[in-house]
Amino acid sequence: MRILLLGKNGQVGWELQRALGVLGELVALDRAGAPGLCGDLSNPEGVAATVRELRPQVIVNAAAHTAVDKAESEPELARLLNATTPGVIAREAAALGAWLVHYGTDYVFDGSGSAPRSEDAPTHPLNVYGATKLEGEALIRESGCRHLILRTSWVYAARGDNFARTMLRLAAERERLTVIDDQVGAPTGAELLADVTAHALRAVQQRPELGGTYHAAASGETSWHAYARFVIEWARRQGWPVRVAPEAIEPVLTSAYPTPARRPLNSRLDTTRLQQAFGVRLPHWQAGVERMLAELPGG
Ligand SMILES: NC(=O)c1ccc[n+]([C@@H]2O[C@H](COP(=O)([O-])OP(=O)(O)OC[C@H]3O[C@@H](n4cnc5c(N)ncnc54)[C@H](OP(=O)(O)O)[C@@H]3O)[C@@H](O)[C@H]2O)c1
Repeated sequence: MRILLLGKNGQVGWELQRALGVLGELVALDRAGAPGLCGDLSNPEGVAATVRELRPQVIVNAAAHTAVDKAESEPELARLLNATTPGVIAREAAALGAWLVHYGTDYVFDGSGSAPRSEDAPTHPLNVYGATKLEGEALIRESGCRHLILRTSWVYAARGDNFARTMLRLAAERERLTVIDDQVGAPTGAELLADVTAHALRAVQQRPELGGTYHAAASGETSWHAYARFVIEWARRQGWPVRVAPEAIEPVLTSAYPTPARRPLNSRLDTTRLQQAFGVRLPHWQAGVERMLAELPGG
């Protein structure tokens, strides 16, 4: 089986390079591409030509315009990367009979209430990023290609920058921190998503009827404030240099931190459908975050 991975150096893309490698011949591209191959999603014709050239059985798209605030001031680019080009890739996949795996976001919802959202819950994005990601989902479905859309939330990876790292850096410098307390979701490891992707891809080879849209996030829930406390308490236990005491992390409301993009307060995703369809268990977010912390250079 030949697999084309786009966005190989993002948080999820990096882990997919590991997890997909065992499934078949993997051609992994980033925006820079490779000789004769285009991996730049701002060039839909180039990506389409690459798909036609490689004729993969599976395409996994981990590339996206993920800069949520920046998307507000460059909506055309966000739309091209998150909607138009995924739609073009989907049409190529349909023509080839290939599977397309694509990642969606909790930001397709408006975050009202406190109940976890199921896949069929009404969508209502609050920002350009969410709206363009929603349009991308729709174009993929319309193309008629065999697909898996995995909607996730609050993605982190050990590699590169992430929320926990930022909190640890600030906690080493300051005695007080203020962190948003009224956005609730589940921090989800890129490695968990990659492993779920590989597992689901194997399953759909045998049972194509399992294709569709699924919510894929770690179990449990937290606020950014409780997440920060968890990270800082963990670091203190390890003896890492932390000036801020856990009780000196102050909760604040989202409204106290105006950002260009509005964000949903309730990012809870109901993952029952994924767990039942594929027979997988999604571990608690704390297990993945502790693992990521243990992989950081530390101290
Ligand atoms: N991060 C989250 O909290 C979150 C939450 C829900 C859903 N998701 C979804 O999960 C998927 C993976 O996200 P992630 O967290 O792995 O994001 P990420 O780390 O920001 O990775 C996105 C990748 O897309 C690449 N990219 C940007 N513009 C491109 C272009 N024109 N052509 C080709 N590649 C381009 C980026 O490359 P450069 O580094 O070169 O810019 C980066 O490698 C995305 O579909 C995202 O929407 C993420």
